[in-house]
Amino acid sequence: MRVIAIDGPAGSGKSTVAKAVAERLGLQYLDTGAMYRSVAFAALRAGADPADHDVAADIARSIELDVSLDAVVVNGVDATVEIRGPEVTRSVSLVAANADVRTEMVSRQREWAERRGGGVLEGRDIGTVVFPDAELKVYLTADPEERARRRAKEVTDLDYETVASDLARRDALDTNRKADPLAEAPDAIQVDTTGLSIDEVVAKIEQLLI
Ligand code: DC
Repeated sequence: MRVIAIDGPAGSGKSTVAKAVAERLGLQYLDTGAMYRSVAFAALRAGADPADHDVAADIARSIELDVSLDAVVVNGVDATVEIRGPEVTRSVSLVAANADVRTEMVSRQREWAERRGGGVLEGRDIGTVVFPDAELKVYLTADPEERARRRAKEVTDLDYETVASDLARRDALDTNRKADPLAEAPDAIQVDTTGLSIDEVVAKIEQLLI
């Protein structure tokens, strides 16, 4: 099974880079953040509090999820746009800190890759928890200002300051939580994407695979 793990904080370029690497290698791509976002979305839609541990865990276990390259369908509802919206973005770190939610999502991620004979998975804990034996582990970083600038470009309805403070808050929550925090695997290769184009980052990763 050929697994490439791409981890790093928000705005480090994971999604764009992971998609490009998957295409070059003829592997499928999984955005694991979209899975945690989908659980937050389902909780909000059910009128539940995403921070309620047991409710979120129940939702995670029963949720019907279809995460593909261009669409995310949650319990039969197209949630592609809403999972990136401010409401989900605000509550997703709480859902991702829930150890029972993580157990369920990690097992689905492993199953996803096993069924496909591997894949490129991006997230926060792919190299440390989901696939500690991945063929290649990349840890992407970038200056906080550059990461906020990239995110601000994606979410046109929020100003830079709001995006930057939200990003800092999420970084802190993702890094300091008890359950599988954002961390660099000891055998991961760190790539600083500050000032690099997508093509330059993808080329660096390709070199690591030779
Ligand atoms: O990458 P993203 O912004 O879509 O991730 C959404 C949230 O989910 C973020 O708070 C980090 C968390 N996450 C995680 O804890 N583990 C993963 N494998 C992927 C994302």
